[in-house]
Amino acid sequence: MSGQIVARSPGRVNLIGDHTDYTGGLVLPMAIDRYTTITATDQQQVDKHDTADRESKRVIDVTSAHEPDRLLLTLPISDPAAVQPAWGRYIAGVAAQLGDTARGISGTITSDIPIGAGLSSSAALELATALALGDTSSPVQRAQLCRRAEHAATGVPCGIMDQLVCSVGVDNHAMLIDCNSLSINPVQLPDGIKVVVQLITRRTLLGSEYSARVAQCQAAEAIVGPLRLAHPAMLDIIDDPTIQARARHVVSENQRVRDAVACLRSGDMVGFGTLMYESHNSLRDDFATSTAQMDSAVSAARATPGVFGARMTGGGFGGCIVIIADATAHIHNLGIESWPVRAVAGAQLLN
Ligand code: GLA
Repeated sequence: MSGQIVARSPGRVNLIGDHTDYTGGLVLPMAIDRYTTITATDQQQVDKHDTADRESKRVIDVTSAHEPDRLLLTLPISDPAAVQPAWGRYIAGVAAQLGDTARGISGTITSDIPIGAGLSSSAALELATALALGDTSSPVQRAQLCRRAEHAATGVPCGIMDQLVCSVGVDNHAMLIDCNSLSINPVQLPDGIKVVVQLITRRTLLGSEYSARVAQCQAAEAIVGPLRLAHPAMLDIIDDPTIQARARHVVSENQRVRDAVACLRSGDMVGFGTLMYESHNSLRDDFATSTAQMDSAVSAARATPGVFGARMTGGGFGGCIVIIADATAHIHNLGIESWPVRAVAGAQLLN
């Protein structure tokens, strides 16, 4: 049987709660109206004329509108990290996780999620791939599968936030996610505000710096136990000032997410914005994931009439800032590109 498949996943922006997911903390991202779409044909047979191969050979044969080299994979996949071209590793990672249940496809990929900007273009590609390859698990299980795929494809020990919000997003809602229990609470965004994402610089060195932060949080947890349960005073027993600072960011950021959700629910956008600035400063000073360009963009946003809050968003070391402002505010482009974004539903099959 063959049929047309259209699988689409949004990217995401995180409003508050960064570098908390991989210690089971709290995050408040939203899926955004920028998408990666796979349009494909279900291709169970590579060569319909070659009857000997009919049952045995499944292939993924896809081109991307944004990449020069076509991806041709024969299933099953054993080592996704070795796949060429490199952009195909995310697809190979998902196919490897799906194992025998992955179907062969032939098709094209398009996306308006900028690559290397920190808006989860990779999570979106993974989720669209899982749907296109026939994954029938729940949206939460699909996110977990895609996270494992990313680990296998890139070696970067990412948390669950990106895959989960891209999978379970709700129209017009930010998603409060407890990354330990995986409980998900949509929080409605108030009327009269806008969310603007600005790409300040493309990211560099994300993989190794990110892995270092994960290791530093593990080092802190070896001393004080799970950071998601820790209180600020408990961190005094950490001797290493760098490890203590990393832990201080995580513990304070979890509390800021709780407070930010309370602000959003009561319509206190000034309070929400203040927490965004505090989050940015904590990522800058204690977690060292900001850059000078991102710091000045946040300061410039803060000086703009009608802006409630701004902060770097996502993994950091470059990438985007997110700004929340009154809907009537005029927001200048402070970096390379600027997009107003809307909160949208998670990944789905459109056909
Ligand atoms: C990247 C990772 C996420 C999360 C953020 C920082 O986007 O993929 O799991 O850790 O960085 O909040």
